[in-house]
Amino acid sequence: MAAWEHLLPRRRWFLLSSLLLAAAAAAPVVHGYGGGGGLTVGFYKESCPQAEAIVREGGAAAGHDDPTTTAPLLRLHFHDCFVRGCEASVLINSTKTNTAEKDAKPNHTLDAFGVIDAAKEKLERKCPAVVSCADILAIAARDAVSLATKAVRQGRWSKDGNLYEVETGRRDGRVSSAKEAVTYLPDSFDGIRRLITRFASKGLSLKDLAVLSGAHALGNTHCPSIAKRLRNFTAHQNTDPTLDASYAAALRRRCRSARDNTTQLEMVPGSSTTFDAAYYRLVAERRGMFHSDEALLRNDVTRGLVHQYMASEEAFLRDFGASMVNMGRVGVLTGGQGEIRRRCAIVN
Ligand code: HEM
Ligand SMILES: *[C@@H]1O[C@H](CO)[C@@H](O)[C@H](O)[C@H]1NC(C)=O
Ligand SMILES: *[C@@H]1O[C@H](CO)[C@@H](O)[C@H](O)[C@H]1NC(C)=O
Ligand SMILES: *[C@@H]1O[C@H](CO)[C@@H](O)[C@H](O)[C@H]1NC(C)=O
Ligand SMILES: *[C@@H]1O[C@H](CO)[C@@H](O)[C@H](O)[C@H]1NC(C)=O
Repeated sequence: MAAWEHLLPRRRWFLLSSLLLAAAAAAPVVHGYGGGGGLTVGFYKESCPQAEAIVREGGAAAGHDDPTTTAPLLRLHFHDCFVRGCEASVLINSTKTNTAEKDAKPNHTLDAFGVIDAAKEKLERKCPAVVSCADILAIAARDAVSLATKAVRQGRWSKDGNLYEVETGRRDGRVSSAKEAVTYLPDSFDGIRRLITRFASKGLSLKDLAVLSGAHALGNTHCPSIAKRLRNFTAHQNTDPTLDASYAAALRRRCRSARDNTTQLEMVPGSSTTFDAAYYRLVAERRGMFHSDEALLRNDVTRGLVHQYMASEEAFLRDFGASMVNMGRVGVLTGGQGEIRRRCAIVN
């Protein structure tokens, strides 16, 4: 990060970085191809040819030992990109004088830091100070979702075993703030208008919102995240009216207490380690886990996409890849900005 950046108020910095990004996007692409906001596919092809393979190996090994690690890897990249930008602020440890994103309330059970740290250690041995932590997050998320997608695993989707091509070339930031995580991360009780605004503030569209929400095909939630929906929604309604009543009753039986943080609730019962379009069927049946999932039914565009993805898994998988690339460009640092962190949990 350039020395002046931290002096700018957050809003001005956002505007300025948008301008810088626009300028970078207009510049000719030097290596690899594709590329928006200064990123390219295959950024490390010359500087660290094994970079993507090393990250892949670590993620695949972790996923092999425990398939539930794939979801946290995907979620980590999302949390990173929505606070500041995809610059690995989510990985920074708190210090005596700073409470980092990791320790913000919406971290709820963020996991898989170990997978990222292990990949970084290996990369530092192979190619010291070359591969950013932000790129490790983006690659690991791409791999996690690829390995969880049947068509990809079976070689029916792409030759290289990937759901989509991930852009790289991000650099790491030097700031991580719990307060910003609370401000910028979407809340599971957000309604559709709030979700649209939050995504728009990151340059992401209604389509990005509808398709990226499909990430909830993977993983689990915990009772504290949905307790209010089940028993104490508003002063007038105990249960969130957007939640199917019999599903609510079943969830209430699993979640006896709002403080129960050990019960794992699969987002998509029976298929929470398989990445597919099953999430959209649940949403259409008003069995999405969060109020924010059901909110997709409250706007013509997002509701249309819910139905489209229900009908065509291929359309979902294709659009998901495109939207992950869009999300991966949010607020990135490139070129001489930021730094390449030596250890992902602390700034250099
Ligand atoms: C649209 C707004 C979103 C909201 C409000 C939201 C909220 C949440 C919440 C509350 C949890 C459960 C935390 C817990 O109880 O442990 C969760 C889990 C998860 N989210 Fe989201 N999320 C959103 C979008 C996304 C996006 C865009 C992605 C990725 C592209 C994503 C990926 C995940 C994954 C994979 C999990 C499961 C994690 C695990 O199993 O450990 N979410 N989300
Ligand atoms: C999440 O934040 C809490 C404090 O609010 C902290 O105790 C916990 O360790 C954090 N979780 C992770 C995975 O860092
Ligand atoms: C229900 O929600 C209200 C307002 O958020 C809160 O003050 C109250 O303690 C909650 N009750 C229970 C039983 O959780
Ligand atoms: C889970 O809840 C218990 C009891 O309320 C608490 O002691 C513990 O710190 C919580 N764990 C996490 C990860 O929040
Ligand atoms: C960051 O914090 C975690 C959890 O407290 C700890 O295990 C890890 O060693 C720390 N990393 C560094 C580089 O200090």
